[in-house]
Parts: sequence; structure tokens; C-alpha cells
Amino acid sequence: MTSPDRTVATVDLDHLCSLARTLGRQAADLVKAGRTAAVVDIDTKSDPTDVVTAMDRACEALLRERLAELRPGDGVHGEEHTESEGRTGVRWIIDPIDGTVNYLYGLENYSISIAVEVDGDLVVGVVTKPATGEQFHAVRGGGAFLDDWPIGCSAPTDLSLTLLATGFGYLPSRRAAQGAVVGALLAEVRDIRRMGSAALDLCNVAAGRVDAYYEWGTHIWDWAAGAVICREAGVDVRLPEDDEGLVVACAPSVSSALNDAIRSRIKPEWQVPH
Ligand code: IPD
Repeated sequence: MTSPDRTVATVDLDHLCSLARTLGRQAADLVKAGRTAAVVDIDTKSDPTDVVTAMDRACEALLRERLAELRPGDGVHGEEHTESEGRTGVRWIIDPIDGTVNYLYGLENYSISIAVEVDGDLVVGVVTKPATGEQFHAVRGGGAFLDDWPIGCSAPTDLSLTLLATGFGYLPSRRAAQGAVVGALLAEVRDIRRMGSAALDLCNVAAGRVDAYYEWGTHIWDWAAGAVICREAGVDVRLPEDDEGLVVACAPSVSSALNDAIRSRIKPEWQVPH
């Protein structure tokens, strides 16, 4: 529920970003320290390959507890728990561990993703990588940063010179469709990267570490924070209206070519949401 006289302009976005950065660091410490216990305590979700560790749940619980203390009345939408309705117009969108399979296997490419929406607009994004301590952040209109350094996206001159990141869902039927699309694109781009954390893939586009990222089948907690960071880094970001729809984040110089190449390969019978 939103109050009629409050708009995004009356909310202190820098304060929310600073809080998200502090919470991201606290969550990173918890998750990094708890990896050994987490690997012996796992459960599965949509498919036997779709795992949730005890640490995913503990991390989201920590973030929810801290937000309940510090921001009572805000909504919280996280991957591992049901939505908490808010009454302030501010909603926190949390992925406690994005890249859970990497985390499970002891690979370093996993992250904590925290975004803030005000009255439905994404305004703050913070993505923290516990293994290295790197933290990406952005406030709408204020630029994008890796730790304290401003970042910006790349400018490849052609699709054939584009380093393209992507990801795959957990359901076998979706993976088959995603494999068909990436197989076709492989001949048209510089190369493909599948690194296992959508939030970090988006941050890598923002920092020019790859030129583009696309995936469908993800949820808002996977991409919300990374999308704010990408937009502030000058990336052309196309977000879906519906959950699990296609996300494309691309350096503007090749964005229309890449969007055409991806969208022309998606078959209607796959029913990818818009
Ligand atoms: C997954 C990662 C992965 C992406 C999957 C996501 P999770 O998130 O972001 O890179 O390809 O689609 O589900 O399950 O580790 O939070």
C-alpha cells in the first residue's frame, strides 16, 4: 500500500544504498564463513539440480531480520521465503545466494543481490561477491560503481566481436531450448561465457568485463540489482514484464543486432514470457 503524497523524490536513495551495502557485506561474511556447513545441508526446489543450501535460508533470514529492525514497514521479496507486504512503498528484492550451484561446489562466482524498489521503480542495486569482497552498487541517476570506482560498459564495434554471457534454467525442457539458441549464437559472437550467477553476469556487463548477457527463465531477485547497476553504467537493459521472461543487457553499440539475433531464435512454442 502506498501513501498518496509520497513519491520516489521524497525517499533518501543514498541512505537506502548505503544500508544495502552494509547488509550485503554482513551477508557476505555469513555466507563465506558458513560454506562448510552449507554443503552438507541441502534441499531441492523445482528440479533435483535446483538446490537450496541451509546458508541460502540463513542469509535471507539475516537480511529480513535486519530490515525488520532498521526499516519496519518496508516490503521484502526474497528467493527463499514468501513476500512480506510493506506499507511504505519501499520494497527490498533479495537473492541471498545467486549462483548457489557454484557455492555448493566451492566455485567463487556467487553473490548476494539486494535491490530496492520505490513505488514499483527499481532505484538501488547492490551486488556483493563474498569470495573476493568486490561490491557493485548504483543509485538511479548517480552512476555505477565497483567498490569506490566508477564503471562503464564496453563498446564493441560488431556482434562478431561481442563476448556474450548467458545462463540456463534448471528444468530440462527449458535447458534444451536455451541450448538451441546459444548454439546458434555461438557462430555469430566472439565467444560465450556461462559463469553461474545472473547478478554477477549483469555486473560484468556494467564493468565491461563481458559485452552482453541474456537469459530467460530467471526471476526478479536474480536480475533486479544488476539491472540498476547496468543502466547506470550505460548498458541497454531490456527487462521482461512477466516473471521468467527474457532479460537482455548489452553494450548499446551492438544491442539491436544482439536483440534481433536472440529474439529471432526463440520459437513461439517455447512460450517464453514477455
Ligand atoms: C541461478 C543463477 C544462474 C542462472 C539461473 C539462476 P540461483 O540463480 O543466477 O546463473 O543461470 O537461471 O536460477 O538459483 O543460483 O539463485
